[in-house]
Amino acid sequence: NKGKYEHYMQKEIHEQPESLTTTMRGRLIRGGSCKAKTVLLGGLKDHLKTIRRSRRIVFIGCGTSYNAALAARPILEELSGIPVTMEIASDLLDRQGPIYREDTAVLVSQSGETADTLNALEYALENGALCVGVASTKAYTSQIVVMAMLALAIGGDLISSQERREAVIDGLFDLPSKLKEVLKLDQEMKDLAKLLIAEQSLLVFGRGYNYATALEGALKVKEVALMHSEGILAGEMKHGPLALVDETLPIFVIATRDACFSKQQSVIQQLHARKGRLIVMCTKGDAASVCVGGSCRVIEVPQAEDCLQPVINIVPLQLLAYHLTVLRGHNVDQPRNLAKSVTTQ
Ligand code: F6R
Repeated sequence: NKGKYEHYMQKEIHEQPESLTTTMRGRLIRGGSCKAKTVLLGGLKDHLKTIRRSRRIVFIGCGTSYNAALAARPILEELSGIPVTMEIASDLLDRQGPIYREDTAVLVSQSGETADTLNALEYALENGALCVGVASTKAYTSQIVVMAMLALAIGGDLISSQERREAVIDGLFDLPSKLKEVLKLDQEMKDLAKLLIAEQSLLVFGRGYNYATALEGALKVKEVALMHSEGILAGEMKHGPLALVDETLPIFVIATRDACFSKQQSVIQQLHARKGRLIVMCTKGDAASVCVGGSCRVIEVPQAEDCLQPVINIVPLQLLAYHLTVLRGHNVDQPRNLAKSVTTQ
């Protein structure tokens, strides 16, 4: 049932404030008699001690689920102090990469049916790793929220990170209203889609917390709008991609406020110097400081706790992919050549 929406994709994009609230309900606790801020993940409770002792946490998934894990990786590393490595399920299997008893493997899947992910689960179990699954609800943003809660649970109650944990919990509670706010960019993203309708390609630059946003935004544009798009780690720009920059190729740069902001400012300057055609996503009020020395189109988004900013930043890119698809005359709700879940290898 599409309700008031024209397409299911549009409905799912706009329903994210509610899906996030549902994802957090009963799991994230604030206030109460002792005014504690904590997270309760029932299924994980008995394994937390073992997970905290593991030498490494390995995130395993495909497609969007992989990207969601990548978005949550920094906060998991920060709060747990355990190295977190990323594995695309098929690649882990192709390499028969080493997995040890001291590892915790976190399998991420929306459908729980993806053959590559299930095979990787079997492989990790055979190798003796403790395996836990993130069977999250449908949306990328909910997956990130689930994994941020996972990070809080694994991070435990170390005094040294208490302030940060509380800030992350407050940040999670603030997300639904910020998501509502960012959804107001709908018309602006439709206007941008009109400008990009005939383009062959779109590059998306991100780094740090928003490297995953670049990958996921590009994946959506490819998948539904059937336009070539590449998510690029901005730190790699000088090592190859810079050669592509000219006056015609549209480049989307994610430059919201966090510890990487000044590095992104210098990326923007270098792109300007090569006359790049820039679209910059920045924190509200930052338009003037991201666009020094050149012209660019600016998209301003509300600021969230840094590690949760990817939940906000993906939304304009989802809206862009949606409008590009409709304007280019493709079927948004049934992307060409794709199955609902990939049950074959
Ligand atoms: C992208 C998409 C796919 C899936 C991938 C994994 O929009 O739908 O990339 O994310 O096939 O699927 P799950 O999460 O069901 O294992």
